[in-house]
Amino acid sequence: MKQYKEAITLAFSGASGAPYGLRLLEVLVAMNYQVYVLISSAARVVLDTESNIKLSGNEQKCTEQLSELVKAGPEQVKVFGKDNWFSPVASGSAAPKKMVVCPCSAGSVSAIAVGASDNLLERAADVVIKERGQLILVPRETPFSSIHLENMHKLSQMGVTIMPAAPGFYHKPESIDDLVDFMVARILDHLHIEHTLTKRWGYGDHK
Ligand SMILES: Cc1cc2nc3c(=O)[nH]c(=O)nc-3n(C[C@H](O)[C@H](O)[C@H](O)COP(=O)(O)O)c2cc1C
Repeated sequence: MKQYKEAITLAFSGASGAPYGLRLLEVLVAMNYQVYVLISSAARVVLDTESNIKLSGNEQKCTEQLSELVKAGPEQVKVFGKDNWFSPVASGSAAPKKMVVCPCSAGSVSAIAVGASDNLLERAADVVIKERGQLILVPRETPFSSIHLENMHKLSQMGVTIMPAAPGFYHKPESIDDLVDFMVARILDHLHIEHTLTKRWGYGDHK
């Protein structure tokens, strides 16, 4: 079987911003990482609404759809259903040490902040926190309420990286893809994955 770099968990929840998650998946696959994908029910609606992607509710079919979309190798992308408690991400004994929720809804932020673990996405995040791995949340909501801010503050204090989907404009984006890549580049930076998606400040033509 083809060997991939370490597995990373990428979860899509139901916030606006499906293109960020899809691009992150595409880039991780192109960089030869294995990716375990979790998709909430609301995220399926958002993916359809924003990117015209209708994902099957069947794990295997959904894996095939996404694999084809991002040109993944055999077994490189694995989708786990929201009740698949037997998947590796559900247990600290097998879960990847790195997880990104992108995009992350205010609802998922809240559930993760209280350790609800009521679906596989929430459980996987809970596992990464308890195992002291790296959890990155990419929330998208505006404005943030005090509830959202309190939840994010609580998570930040326990080492979770809160990285709002708030692309900069100083790299002079010419397209939506450029804005998406700005966010994906920053996420990769925090995952300590080298990339050339965007020019770095001080090295490019930013003036
Ligand atoms: C098209 C669409 C866009 C949405 N955008 C957002 C959003 O930007 N931020 C957010 O927090 N919730 C958003 N929601 C609402 C969440 O999907 C909803 O609260 C859901 O219960 C979140 O569940 P999940 O975290 O399990 O995915 C959106 C819903 C839809 C259908």
